[in-house]
Amino acid sequence: MPLFPPLNPPITHWAGQRVWIIGASSGIGAETALLLAERGAWVALSARRSDALEALRARFAPGAGAAATVLPLDITDPAAVDRAAQTLLARWDGLDLVLIAAGMYDALRASSFNAAHLPVLRMVMDVNLMGTYHVLAATLPLLTRQGRGGIAIISSVAGYNGLPRALAYAPSKAALNNLCEGLYFELRPLGLAVYRICPGFIATAMTAGNNFTMPALLPAKAAASEIVNGMERGEFEIHFPKRFTYFLKVMSWLPRRLYFILLRMGSRQV
Ligand SMILES: NC(=O)c1ccc[n+]([C@@H]2O[C@H](COP(=O)([O-])OP(=O)(O)OC[C@H]3O[C@@H](n4cnc5c(N)ncnc54)[C@H](OP(=O)(O)O)[C@@H]3O)[C@@H](O)[C@H]2O)c1
Repeated sequence: MPLFPPLNPPITHWAGQRVWIIGASSGIGAETALLLAERGAWVALSARRSDALEALRARFAPGAGAAATVLPLDITDPAAVDRAAQTLLARWDGLDLVLIAAGMYDALRASSFNAAHLPVLRMVMDVNLMGTYHVLAATLPLLTRQGRGGIAIISSVAGYNGLPRALAYAPSKAALNNLCEGLYFELRPLGLAVYRICPGFIATAMTAGNNFTMPALLPAKAAASEIVNGMERGEFEIHFPKRFTYFLKVMSWLPRRLYFILLRMGSRQV
């Protein structure tokens, strides 16, 4: 029996829930789409690669595939995101959950950073942070009008603390972590749920190029289960795997002097 009530209303069933996943063409977004479709949700799939989205839809069970919708878009284009949202609303007449899984990582280092890196830095911010605002702009008016439904943002544990090789990525995720709290505070009283999702290392295309041992690495399918289970429990922050995320949370409470010493010891190979 939990000591406190959950911060969000627990999701008790998925059948017929209308879920829009942006960043569904691979990795965590794709696995979450598969899992939710298996449980009977209506799933709309968005990302840039329409072929990958169609291939994913083809993996759905016949009934779930029929209920699924493919809406290709680039999250950095606010007009395209809005058009997709309007198409979806015309088809579904409402939305129960928006899951923002689109994201981009680039291993930008401070030690070699210069003006030539500004375009990639801007792109990381555009996809991870501005892209999220584009989806919020396209869906919040409807969700607040409905007075129910939820917004889930896949942020990262990389937003907890400053990290090496993440000059753009970690600050973009720190901004998302902060944004989720502001959204929760304002939107929960209006009947909406807000989920902050902070994965540790997950085996996806995003981490495939990492040339260091990733602690507590999880498969994308396990990440999808964690996300869905966390929503069913009504959690606000869904973070996993706990053995890694709690360690990082403790790191964020440490005096910065101690944090930098431990980070230097832990990131020798990075
Ligand atoms: N893997 C990890 O260790 C890890 C850890 C913590 C957090 N995360 C976060 O989890 C989320 C999913 O990442 P992943 O690990 O599953 O990586 P992934 O397999 O590379 O998936 C990234 C998704 O984002 C989409 N995307 C990228 N740029 C886009 C754009 N401009 N417009 C629309 N969609 C775009 C990609 O689709 P298209 O290329 O088809 O557009 C793809 O569907 C990201 O936010 C990531 O930061 C990942």
